[in-house]
Amino acid sequence: MERSDAFTMIFRTAWIVCITLALCYADAADAQGSRAKSSQSAVQQAAPQQPWMNPSLDPDVRADLMIHEMTLDEKIQLVHGVGWGVLRAGAPVPPADNGGAGFVPGIPRLHLPDINLADSAVGVRMAALEGRYATLLPSVLGMSASWDPEAAFLYGSVIGRELRAQGYNMSIGGGMDLIREPRNGRNFEYSSEDPILAGTMVGQLARGVQSNHIMGDIKHYVLNEQETGRNILNAVLDRRALRETDLLAFQIAITEAQSAGVMCSYNHVNGDFACENDYTLNQVLKHDWGFKGFVLSDWGGTHSTVKAALAGLDMDQPGDDNYFSDPLQQAVQDGKVPITRLDEMVHRIVRSMFASGAIDEPPVRSVVDPFRGRDDARKIEEESAVLLQNSGGILPLDAANIRSIAIIGGHADVGVLSGGGSAQVDAPGGNAIDPMPGPSAWGKPVYFPSSPLKYIREQAGQGTRIVYDAGTDPVQAAKAAAGAQVAVVFVTQWMSEGRDAATLSLPDNQDALVAAVVAANPNTIVVLETGGPVTMPWAKNVKAILESWYPGIGGGQAIAAILFDRVNPSGKLPVTFAAADSDLPHPTVTGLSEQMMNVRREAAATPHSGPRVQPRPFDVDYNLEGMAVGYRWFQEKNKQPLFPFGFGLSYTRFAYSNLRVDSDAKSVRFDLSNTGAQAGDEIAEVYVTLPDSAGEPFRKLAAWKRVSLAAGAAQTVEVPIDPLYLSIYSTVGDDWRRPAGDFLVEAGGSSSDLPLRQILRLAAR
Ligand code: BGC
Repeated sequence: MERSDAFTMIFRTAWIVCITLALCYADAADAQGSRAKSSQSAVQQAAPQQPWMNPSLDPDVRADLMIHEMTLDEKIQLVHGVGWGVLRAGAPVPPADNGGAGFVPGIPRLHLPDINLADSAVGVRMAALEGRYATLLPSVLGMSASWDPEAAFLYGSVIGRELRAQGYNMSIGGGMDLIREPRNGRNFEYSSEDPILAGTMVGQLARGVQSNHIMGDIKHYVLNEQETGRNILNAVLDRRALRETDLLAFQIAITEAQSAGVMCSYNHVNGDFACENDYTLNQVLKHDWGFKGFVLSDWGGTHSTVKAALAGLDMDQPGDDNYFSDPLQQAVQDGKVPITRLDEMVHRIVRSMFASGAIDEPPVRSVVDPFRGRDDARKIEEESAVLLQNSGGILPLDAANIRSIAIIGGHADVGVLSGGGSAQVDAPGGNAIDPMPGPSAWGKPVYFPSSPLKYIREQAGQGTRIVYDAGTDPVQAAKAAAGAQVAVVFVTQWMSEGRDAATLSLPDNQDALVAAVVAANPNTIVVLETGGPVTMPWAKNVKAILESWYPGIGGGQAIAAILFDRVNPSGKLPVTFAAADSDLPHPTVTGLSEQMMNVRREAAATPHSGPRVQPRPFDVDYNLEGMAVGYRWFQEKNKQPLFPFGFGLSYTRFAYSNLRVDSDAKSVRFDLSNTGAQAGDEIAEVYVTLPDSAGEPFRKLAAWKRVSLAAGAAQTVEVPIDPLYLSIYSTVGDDWRRPAGDFLVEAGGSSSDLPLRQILRLAAR
């Protein structure tokens, strides 16, 4: 056994012992009454005699059998959470609450467990509050750059596994909103600007969560695409465009995952709040897509009792605003909400608990294995980092020949950046740039202890001189760069729920930092750790650019492995990188300047001198781009992005030939060969442009496949095409139809590099 392996083993064992002890301690404290898990343990003790406890019965039948025995009070109890709990200082925390964002008490006499809900967009949130550990995965956007449904499933299964170990039975992750606004603070929780890529990846993620008998969730339904004014804005989008873009993404994910929950969002959608929107909830989600799970509100996203109940909301969270407690009971007694509707809400919740296994296979507390989590996170990151530029073959770095490296900026000496808000995972040992044990503070960038510097040192070996400069002073950084053979600059963009970036520019003068470094050393490599797309005025001057997203707890290792050729980069952009804000459909974030003016006005006003400035509701007009989201906009407007959707480089090269499209466009085949000198993965993409009559003058992603090829190897790739993706939504018949005419099918390695093309004449369908 290698020495380092022995150390790893000792460390691993010690770690697990520590965690075990911590858990034993926590459990002993629980036993003493600090957390009486009363209803849960009663549920576990009750003998499963009741007829609905027969696991061979269908979940809907089991739910109906149980609901038949429920009192009105018990039904009401199930359709709302019991308050903000640990989220708000001073709010009551019920004894059986597991410390997550939400809690719904169960009904022990009926063998129905509590529902403990945890935020878990990129890993389990608030673990540190309970002395637990949670794996930080790469951002969802990063993971989507792998275009690998298996990586998405693994991602979800890590979350599900750790939720289960921590005693939760529902995830409230599954961020699905489309990236219409690239400055949205939550894009790192979301997947793509393309509905098919986003729907597929998030659907697989939710499947992975649910594979652990955890109820999954997909959020925020729908058009919750900026944080500015998220509670007051009205998102406006015509029905056809809505169905073909944002709703299509949800449709794919929900159909794929059969998720237990769908969380409705804060904003209005075409005039009605998303949580009281009959069209999106009743008509589309439940009727058209046949969704069997339950709709839960975002926290504080319910605004009425009767309207919301009748429009399709099934569970009010966190529930202390009293819409679905006594007022709902009253509305049922007054006949304003039929009892059948309340029964439907309860049915959806209980059947989802049966279907997911939350009742038959309740979570069992155990020790989270941080090493397994880190290895999974690293593996996903290695597939997700996108090599955007590599001139003069500067990458990969050759450890045998490199004498000196200057590492600059981004706190690369201690760790990697994570995203903020309710997706924040607690860093082990606290924030790596300000280590203090305990939960993360809201509103502050948190770095995780996976130091790129450390792993670069490890890869480079002892013969290489490595210096680190914090990058806070461009002049100093330039000096450090000038003295080295290669400079690697780490630049960061911290993003969070609750705030959007005002522009696509990197914050904190980092553009000037890169400019100064590259002026001092032409062999400059930039590693980005960003929540989403950024502009790069220095792009043409630097040799290489690697987008690592928020790379997760295995990030330092993955970045070093790619820089030094242990891993051949293979990720491709799931979102367009615009060259300038002015190229976007919305050159500024709608409502942001007014919000900033309000803040300034408030700050200028002396305290108590007058009423607070109330934000005014406003529309965000998504009809401006309509269906032309992201790359489609750039093609339609003939604008050149900085880096296009679907683009990413490899250390090898791939060639495409011989496109053959099935006469009914059911599948596409082509030959793919690795013409370079090393093995690599290629994400082969297929786009379709519909006939002119469709009124969609842009290509749309229709299918893709991630293919591994050894150097010199070739393969015929076959990808099926879902007929839905060749159809348009007709608002006349409220259905999907394939138009007649010429369909252009293109295949290649990026939305703007498609060497294969074929036109296919198809009949209407
Ligand atoms: C967020 C949700 C989150 C909830 C509970 C809300 O502010 O929008 O995504 O699940 O809080 O923390």
